[in-house]
Amino acid sequence: MKNITVIGTGYVGLVSGAGLSDFGNQVICADIDESKIRLLKAGKIPIFEPGLKEVVDRNIKSNRLSFTTDVSKAVRDSEVIFIGVGTPEGKNGEADLSVVFSVAETIGNNLNTYKIICTKSTVPIGTGEKIISIINKYKKNDIDFDYVSNPEFLREGAAVQDFLIPNRIVLGATSEKSFRIMQDVYRPLYINETPIVYTNVSTAEMIKYASNAFLALKLSYINEIANLCEAVGADVHIVAKAMGNDGRISPKFLHPGPGFGGSCFPKDTKALLSLSKELNEPMNTVVAAIATNARQKVRMVDKLFNLMGDEIKGKTIAVLGLSFKQMTDDVRESASIKMIQSILDKDGIVKAYDPVASDNMKMIFPDIEYYSNWQEAVNNVDAVVIMTEWHEFRGLDLVELKQLVKTPIILDTRNVLSIKDLVSLDFKFDNVGRRVLK
Ligand code: UGA
Repeated sequence: MKNITVIGTGYVGLVSGAGLSDFGNQVICADIDESKIRLLKAGKIPIFEPGLKEVVDRNIKSNRLSFTTDVSKAVRDSEVIFIGVGTPEGKNGEADLSVVFSVAETIGNNLNTYKIICTKSTVPIGTGEKIISIINKYKKNDIDFDYVSNPEFLREGAAVQDFLIPNRIVLGATSEKSFRIMQDVYRPLYINETPIVYTNVSTAEMIKYASNAFLALKLSYINEIANLCEAVGADVHIVAKAMGNDGRISPKFLHPGPGFGGSCFPKDTKALLSLSKELNEPMNTVVAAIATNARQKVRMVDKLFNLMGDEIKGKTIAVLGLSFKQMTDDVRESASIKMIQSILDKDGIVKAYDPVASDNMKMIFPDIEYYSNWQEAVNNVDAVVIMTEWHEFRGLDLVELKQLVKTPIILDTRNVLSIKDLVSLDFKFDNVGRRVLK
């Protein structure tokens, strides 16, 4: 077991730090954001991530997990340093690596013993080389270090489980010594025979982008099939189910919806495209996935406006679900942003409800009304649109809803409602790829 520092306490860093301590390592989570560290030290979790608090609490109790703003000292005190800071989208779609590089500088300045420097953040292919040269530039002695690329495959909302029981671990490195140390870092998984892919740094970096972009493609494909299903009167759910029965296709990521969002697919597809342009190696499939996704978000708006007869001015619409998917409070690139903005652009009024994401959406739309339950949000509205597949919307009482709304119009962009019930209650409705009624 190892002494580890994880730099960055966002979704990736905090889940990784907590998970690594759960594997028996001694972990310091370091971040320059004092308010975050203060919260963590007080036993609070700054993000909504199911199961994370339990893992953090039990490892603090076992003295395996601690938090600090003193990044330099944490680096000096550890043998393995994970970089888990943010890599937001830059001006031209490329990943903004300024924080990663500043962390590399700090690591270089504090390299006092042999260390493994391991990147978890999603970084463009070739970043490993840059991190190595920055550390070499700033280190003040001949002390050796090894670089490892260890991309994360964590889904928000299921990140703890994805970390503790992963499908695979990818280790990109050049020295045998670093592979051995990383095996020790992931000892319980190594013993459990979790697949571990040993490769070089650029292959590991590529695996991450190739995986995310593939999932984004798959999703855009089923969204386009859903749109065609509408035109021919087919049911996309049955199409997807039968497709998924083919092991070569697999049933995962075939659920149509309002278009992907979040901090990963939109950013990673653009970053891969930016790399492909730079290297003059076209990625037409990724271009198509990005365009399809943007169209899907607009298509949802058109669906709502069609249902309402294009009379939006002065009308009130309840938007149920604000996060980019269920089980997260993250609203980054959420399809609901496009929906809300489009309603406001037409002088419509938005009443919003989400079980956990309202505070984050308030930063984007401070002036719309937010409600603490769906019943209040739908009260006396002209239409309802479901944007996130929260379980509570799956179980929505349509009889109660119909009594509360002014007009029984509902757009279900997640296909969570029963078409049979909508028909029998005489709702005017639409969904994604399931216009067929029998
Ligand atoms: C994604 C990947 O799934 C993770 O493996 C990866 O580690 C992560 O990005 C990352 O790079 O950090 P995440 O963005 O949290 O994880 O969310 P997903 O569950 O993959 O969903 C992405 C988007 O696709 C959401 O908007 C979701 O609603 C949508 N989606 C997903 C569908 O509309 N239908 C599906 O069948 C699946």
